[in-house]
Parts: sequence; structure tokens; C-alpha cells
Amino acid sequence: MPSIRSLALLGSFGLASAASVLSPRSVDLDACPGYNAKNVKENKNGFVADLTLAGKACDVYGKDLKDLKLEVTYDSNTRIHVKITDPEGKRYEVPESVVPRPTTKATGSAKKSDIVFEYKQSPFSFSVTRRSTGEKLFDTTGNALIFESQYLRLKTNLPENPNIYGLGEHTESLRLNPTNTTRTLWSRDSYGVPQDSNLYGNHPVYYEHRDSGTHAVLMLNSNGMDIKLRNSNTTGAYSLEYNIIGGILDLYFFAGPDPIEVAKQYSEVVGLPAMMPYWGFGFHQCRYGYRDWIDVAEVIANYSMAGIPLETMWTDIDYMYERWVFTLDPERFPVDKVREIVDYLHAHDQHYIVMVDPAIAYQDYPAFNRALESDTLLKEANGTVHKGVVWPGVTAYPDWFHPNIESYWNNEFAEFFNADTGVDIDGVWIDMNEPASFCSYPCSDPEGEAIAQQMPPKRLPVRDPPRSIPGFPSTYSAKKTRSIDVVSGAANKVRARRASVEVDLISPPYSIANDAPYGLSDRTVHTDIVHYGGYIEYDTHNLYGTMMSDATYSAMSARRPGLRPLIITRSTFAGAGKKVGKWLGDNLSTWEQYRWSIPGMLGFASFYQIPMVGSDVCGFGANTTETLCARWTTLGAFNPFFRNHNGDTSISQEFYRWPMVAKAAKNAIDIRYRLLDYIYTALYKQHKTGVPLINPLFFKYPKDKNVYDIEYQFIYGDSILVSPVTAENVTTVDIYLPQGQFYEFTTGKSVKGEGKFVTLTDVDYDTIPLHIIGGSILPLRSESAMTTTELRTKPFNLIIAPDSKGYAKGSLYVDDGESLEQEKTLSVEFVYKNKKLSVKCNGGFSGVKVEKVTLLGASKKRSRDVDENGVLVVEAEKELSGEWTLDF
Ligand code: NOJ
Repeated sequence: MPSIRSLALLGSFGLASAASVLSPRSVDLDACPGYNAKNVKENKNGFVADLTLAGKACDVYGKDLKDLKLEVTYDSNTRIHVKITDPEGKRYEVPESVVPRPTTKATGSAKKSDIVFEYKQSPFSFSVTRRSTGEKLFDTTGNALIFESQYLRLKTNLPENPNIYGLGEHTESLRLNPTNTTRTLWSRDSYGVPQDSNLYGNHPVYYEHRDSGTHAVLMLNSNGMDIKLRNSNTTGAYSLEYNIIGGILDLYFFAGPDPIEVAKQYSEVVGLPAMMPYWGFGFHQCRYGYRDWIDVAEVIANYSMAGIPLETMWTDIDYMYERWVFTLDPERFPVDKVREIVDYLHAHDQHYIVMVDPAIAYQDYPAFNRALESDTLLKEANGTVHKGVVWPGVTAYPDWFHPNIESYWNNEFAEFFNADTGVDIDGVWIDMNEPASFCSYPCSDPEGEAIAQQMPPKRLPVRDPPRSIPGFPSTYSAKKTRSIDVVSGAANKVRARRASVEVDLISPPYSIANDAPYGLSDRTVHTDIVHYGGYIEYDTHNLYGTMMSDATYSAMSARRPGLRPLIITRSTFAGAGKKVGKWLGDNLSTWEQYRWSIPGMLGFASFYQIPMVGSDVCGFGANTTETLCARWTTLGAFNPFFRNHNGDTSISQEFYRWPMVAKAAKNAIDIRYRLLDYIYTALYKQHKTGVPLINPLFFKYPKDKNVYDIEYQFIYGDSILVSPVTAENVTTVDIYLPQGQFYEFTTGKSVKGEGKFVTLTDVDYDTIPLHIIGGSILPLRSESAMTTTELRTKPFNLIIAPDSKGYAKGSLYVDDGESLEQEKTLSVEFVYKNKKLSVKCNGGFSGVKVEKVTLLGASKKRSRDVDENGVLVVEAEKELSGEWTLDF
């Protein structure tokens, strides 16, 4: 039952059969005729025009569409929206229900806009120019526009050696190689997160940075695509080319020119990111392969005994009965023991998170049966349930487009994550939502069953003898307990059925570089599956994880009314940050992947507006080492989302396992927690304005060419330069210090940045080099704590780090840390100039105090109390309310 849209797509334009497609190699794409623009009709904020095929169709990957429609809208004077589609507007577009478009009325105009759309009528080409400099930011001159039923091609010329960032999810360098990069966007379960491969999420936006300014381009299209960055062998010219297998050309151009402005402008289209609970910034421990509740309880107890703050304990699929979602393993994770763990955690101001996968075991049990009853599973054309193979064996997949899905998903959460009878979770981890299947296309019956049999063992043997754990009332016993949600009974014999498919939805004529051997449908839901409302998996595949995120947000909001949900997902699309955070998936415990985690994190937090992001600290796959884990721990403490997680076959890597790692964790968590309100304030700013909470160096130093390639140093908040050691077996690191005043974080010592690399030596494995950027005031908690609840009771210490002119500023935002709507908040602006600190508070809570103020870069002449590093500490004992000043 294809949708009207899909039918129209298939009907109006016809799908080229494989046989009718010319060999792509035989066609020079630029020799295609392109289009002529006619009937240009101006309106208040732009114009519309007809585009008609300018010559003999080249039908390179199907049939050229004869007629198109062009709409150009100056949404504002910093944003242009350009849409090229079929005249009837019947082609698939990213649904507004998934990515709501801005609702503000267009206010820009060609006369005033900072960026200007210009075009040539015949053949049609267009450019976007920065008015202030006359530079062409985007320019399709000489590159024929191709628009076919299953192939869209748009190519822009780029300046020499351009600085292009974004187009994730990837593990490439932060600044993409402009001479030979293909970024394929197609969600994929990508164990080992290899380079030159499509990964879990899709963010079709790039930022281009020039000395004269930064701009960004969003292609709001969810179909599979290859975006190619090249420089021509013959002319040397640089270009970026979209090759998209469906949908429409829906482009947004963001003027910047400041990179941070670009990030803000991007957030105006895809949405501002969610505010997260304060406790979400605490340290999280997880692993795949905790064999039972006693393993989990032991880890909690061990952290406590080691004196390492553990804020949140996580449990992977191990808790499930046979890995069926919404069940508990009655022997290994009996409900009373799990509830005991949750009670223990809550009594100690700690939290609990578990995993939920989208794929539901194809078994006779309540969650599956209710999915059948509510008709919310994806189906084949003949009405039978579409099957894949995931952890439980044969599975079915929820259809997030179905009108009943919200109540189905909410109900499953209400039944299972029930504080009175079930597992009372504080947040949720959603995985495998590309969606993943372990079954290679076509996933025919025997293969499905064979794969199911090869799955890793679902459970390890129960353990004996019984043991007791410090702090926990129960002793472990292997006695069988009934699970709360498992209906016993023989597993259904599954009859996976090979789909009868239109060849074009499975093997479209243009084949994107999906890193899976059997095409688009390999190891995922098949691309000919039609969702409710006629949405085809072929078009909407890249939205699956984001739609699961939205449904889970609603379910968690219902579970914990009025509280901010903490949801961490694997697969994301543009705008997913409005509801969820993201972890970077299945990395490996290698030094290379430790390094890659930095540009990976920056991509999400700084470019895609998904600030709550982090990698699996110490690495997921393979075995970590003591030194790698120590370094990664100190780096992980500067990921907005900080979680140690590893794979089921890897050695244990909780921080207390090695003395060096335990020390690294204590040091790093100490600093992270003292800075927690600083980063929380930065998140709040991003949530309100889109200003990123962490930044690549070029965001802060856009004119300094030396930083455009720097990807292993970054700025935490807007004032702390983080420069991890990046290689194995060394205690040195070459770091770049831009021109300006810096201060060592630990000693407060002044360091002059000269726009040069400097070598830091003797960087112990349990430390990470941090520099405060001159011109900042940091609000720190006076000391760290074992939990973030305790941390919130500590007074503040301010650190004033003046620039070379003796000026500094900073801010602080405080709220209750967890409510969606706040009754009271405190916003503080700090300014230091002319040797005076001025504090201006808005709102407030009684008892929030500043205990000490530390001035860096102070002259010995000023006071005898200034130490040899130029640090002056003044006792302040001031309430953070009203306005006050402090003279130095
Ligand atoms: C894949 C996830 O990426 C990983 O983090 C998790 O441990 C496994 N699934 C098992 O659930």
C-alpha cells in the first residue's frame, strides 16, 4: 500500500528498470542538458520559477524529469531557503512531523540579505554570494543539474583547498579531505566505526570556513546519498557534489559569517537541543556482559569502595529474558533484585539506566502480542509482519509512523518501567535503531534461522556459590524467580519470508557507497517496506533512530512527568538533539579510535546541535590497556556525556581495575565536577541560543589559519582549552597555543600564546593538559563530591583569568537541575575590569554562595598574598543575589 506520494513518485515519473539505465561510466554528467529557468515570479521574500529540461534527456540513472519548480525564499537576511522539486510537490520530502520547519515568517530580501542568490536562466545555474565580500559561497556554474526519479545531482564549485567540516556521522578528520572524500549517508550498524564508511547517524550539513567568514549548507533530504568532495584531475578545481537517490533538493544556506553564528543559524532550522538533567553530567558506568544482578551490584559497591564517584549505573541487554525487550531474565536479573539495586542507587543519590532496542522478539509474549494487536509493526506488502534478526533471534520492528505507536510505546514503558511494580529507571539508552538486523539481504528463511543460531550466547551460566555485596541486603541465590513480564511458552516457529519487491527500491540505479555487501537493505529493514501513511523505508530509513528517539522521549516524559528525560541514542538525523543525546557507537580500544573520538564528539556538539555526546570511554571492542584507559578517562571527563562502556568479550575496564586508571578517574572527575556548573551553563546557553557548549579551535580563532586542521585539541565551554596527549607510550604532546593570554588550569600560571606549537612534557597518565583562555571568569564548585546531588550543596569559587588588557567575563546558570519547567532560576553575569569584579544576579535561590575568588595573572606588587604563579585567592563569602562588586 504505497502512499499517494509514493504512488505519485512511481507513477508520474516512472522508475527506470535496471535494463533501461545507461552505464553511468558512459555518461559525462556535465554533458547532461540541465534545465532552463522560465516564468520567474518575484514575491516579497524571493521568487518562484519553472525549470524545464534544456535539451535531450541524458537519463543517466533513470528518466530525467522534464519539469521542475524552483522556490527561493530569503527566510531572513542570514538564511536562504532553496527548494527544487516536481511541479506538483508530490515527491517525498522529510516529514515535518520528524523535522518541523521553522514557523517564523520570511523576513529577508534580496536587497538586504547578507547572502545573495543569483542565477543564470539558460542553462539554469545558481550561486550564493556573500554580499560584503562578493565571494561565491556556492556556485553550480558549469555543473548540470540532474533530476531523475531516483537520482538527483547538484554540484557546487569550491575555492582552492576548502575547509569543509560536518557531513557526519563519520570518523574522518574534522576538516574533511577536500580532494577525495565521499560521505555516504545511510544509517548502518557499524561495529568498529571504520573510516571511509557510513555510520549510524546522518547529518547532511556542512560548514565551510574561509578567512573571510564561515557559512553552512544544509541539504534537508533523508534519502541515501553520496556527497563527494573532489578536485579535478584536469583542472585542479575543487567541488562538492550531492548524489541523492530520492526526495527533493531542499537547501538552506546560512550566512554566518562568524562560525558560532552559523551554528546558531543552523539551530533555527533543525531546532535547539534539549536541556539535560544536571545529574546527566555525572560519571556513567556501563558494559555489555554483566552476567547478572550481582555483577551490577558489585560494580556499584566497588566504585564506592574505590572512592570514585559513580553517578549512574547502566545495564545492557543482559537484563532481558532471552534478550526480548521489556522483559527481565528471571534468574539473572529477577525483578526483586533489580528493584533492590534501583532502591540502593536512589537511596545513595545515584541513578539507573537500561537499554531498550526497537526490535521486538518475534515470540508469544506480551510486548510482542500487544504490538501485533495495536498493528504497530512494520509489514510486508501482503500484510505479514516484516522480520529481521537481532539479539533475541527473529524480530519485528515498530513502525514509528503508525498513529498507535505512541500509545503502544508509552504503554510498554508504563508496564515495564513502573516504579511500583517494575524497573524504575531514570533515563534510557536506545540502541540498534538504524534499524539494525544481523541478517544479510534478502534474509530468507533458512538464513534468518541460521543467523539466529549463531548469535552470541544469550546468557552465561548462573553463578554459585552465593555471595554478599557490601551495602546490599540480599545475598545472591540462583533460585528461579518469575520475571515480571515473560509469558513462558514455546517460541513461535518463525517463517521469515523473502519480500517481493520492486527492484528499484531495493537496488536503485545509482548505488550509494553503503558499506554493506548486499545493498541498501542489507542488515536492516528492507527498503521496499511501506510504513503507515505510505512512507517507504527507502525514503525514511535515515529517520528511524530519530523517530524512535521522539517516541521514547514521550514515553519517558509520561513515566517521569515534569522531568527532563535523559535519553542516549545511537542513530540520529538532523534535529535529533531536540530530544536526545548520542554516544558514538561501537569504537575499539585503540589509540587511533581514542583520537578519533575528539572530532567525532565535536561534530555532534558543535556542528549538528546534539551537545550531549561522548564516546565509549576506554573503548568498546577489543581489550583496552591500562595506559589507554587512563588517558581516555581524562579525555572522557571532557566529553559532555561521560560513560565507560565496553563489549561483552572484552576484559573488564571499570576505572577501579588499575591503580593508574583509578587515579586518573579521581583527578578527572574532580575537575569535571568542580566545573560541572560551568558546562551546565554552557549547555543551557546552547539549549536557548544554539551557541555550542564545546568548540573546535576555529570557532574561537576563526582568523588563525593554523587552527583550521586542529582536531585533537578543543575548547570545553568557551574558556578551557583541552589538549590531550594523543600517542601511546609518551608523556609529551605538541599543543597549539593561539596568540593571547592563557593560564594553566592546575597551577594558574600565566602562559603567553604566540600562535605556535609548544611541547608539553611530563604529562602523567592521570592528567590532561588544560588551559584557561584569558578573558574568562569560571564559576567552579569549591570542591568535588561523590554525587552531583552532594556537589550542588557546595559553594562556588570564581576564577578570574584576565586577558592582556585586564578584562574578563563569564556567566553562571543555576536551576533545580531536573524540571522541564523551572519555578526559580539564577542567572549571573560576571565582569572583571579596572581591577574590580562586578556580579549581577537575576533571580536566585537563597544559600547559593561564592566562597572564594581567585585572580590569575596578579602582580606580586599588588599583594603579598600573590603566589609565585601570580595567583591571588580572596575569601569572599558572598550570596549570589542582587548585585555586588569586589575590588582587587
Ligand atoms: C550495540 C551497541 O552499540 C553496544 O553499545 C551494546 O553494548 C550492544 N549493542 C549490545 O546491546
